[in-house]
Amino acid sequence: MAAICFDMYGTLCDTASVTRTLRRELDVADRLVDAVESTWRSRQLRYSYQLALMESYRPFWSVTRDALDFALDRYDLAPDGETRDRILRSYESLEPFPGATEVLESLSADGHAVAVLSNGNPEMLSTLAGNAGLDGALDALLSADAAGTFKPAPAVYEAAAADLDAAIGDCWLVSGNAWDVAGAGSAGMETVWVNRANDPFERIGADPIETVESLSAVPEAVSDGRPTYS
Ligand code: LAC
Repeated sequence: MAAICFDMYGTLCDTASVTRTLRRELDVADRLVDAVESTWRSRQLRYSYQLALMESYRPFWSVTRDALDFALDRYDLAPDGETRDRILRSYESLEPFPGATEVLESLSADGHAVAVLSNGNPEMLSTLAGNAGLDGALDALLSADAAGTFKPAPAVYEAAAADLDAAIGDCWLVSGNAWDVAGAGSAGMETVWVNRANDPFERIGADPIETVESLSAVPEAVSDGRPTYS
């Protein structure tokens, strides 16, 4: 049995699924919708790294709101406050990637402790997990909020291991975000990288122990690996 943590945004749920809401709410060309979506996500991550370095933690929901405002400004879009709120709330109902529920259920049935470990603050995580139908298969929803900083700071991975009552080297982090895998590995976790886009891996941090193309391959990857605890 192992403790297996899954990243949420970009791993269990697809952040690109906000494009449907952006298209509806902004009513602009698809090219512009895609540009806003990708700027929104990249600023959200960049702001979280900056806040961690500045030691100025704020809940990820507010980081996500500021990143959205930046993305809209960058493309000279100025929707009213209610429209912005509706766009932001698309983060509460992101689409799960195919097989997300099944993989959590299968690992749990095999006796593993299964958790989410995300930069999302607890409220946004539990709303999304419920809406995406993931909550029934999870033993815990672990948030970076408990450590007062963001992944890839080692404190977040360390706090998760402590919460799961496991040594950090006995925990897995499964993530579609290469920077998250590199950070978790550096902090001492075993890692599975879900590399859906056949990307090259990061040049900094620890290499993944296992690399898979989709969530459905995770149970086999974990059973090939080493960490166990009881
Ligand atoms: C997560 C995002 C930031 O931690 O990928 O869920």
